[in-house]
Amino acid sequence: MSETYVLLVGAACEARQQSYSPYSGFRVGAALLCADGRVVTGTNVENASLGLSLCAERAAVVRAVAEGRREFKAVAICADGDRPTPPCGACRQVLLEFAPDAEVIIVGALGCDGEMIRTTVRDLVPHGFTDFRDGTDRPTT
Ligand code: THU
Repeated sequence: MSETYVLLVGAACEARQQSYSPYSGFRVGAALLCADGRVVTGTNVENASLGLSLCAERAAVVRAVAEGRREFKAVAICADGDRPTPPCGACRQVLLEFAPDAEVIIVGALGCDGEMIRTTVRDLVPHGFTDFRDGTDRPTT
């Protein structure tokens, strides 16, 4: 794995340390490698109203977009536990919006020293729902 990706995984694992997850106790960190080379991280932020909890991957995307970054080459995800935890469906859909071709590197708490899943956003979302605006069968009203 390239040094850039090792650093990206490290950034995701570090972001996980900032997790606000008093309800689940499950910490997740995500790090996006942006087209300009910058790394933007996110972590999961839970709420007493449990359904409002925000996942690390979406937190990272929202932060990057707010910074003017919308193109991502890769995303690393680091969650608690020995095994890698793949992203939830909502996060896959949000990643698909901005970075269908991005590489996805998923690790557990051991980071690069543990088990790793390497895939792409597109492979995580087969037959995904994407921009519908150029559809020919779209109703006109
Ligand atoms: N979580 C993430 O941060 N990313 C995912 O893709 C799945 C779940 C968080 C949300 C919640 O704070 C905790 O993990 C347990 O579901």
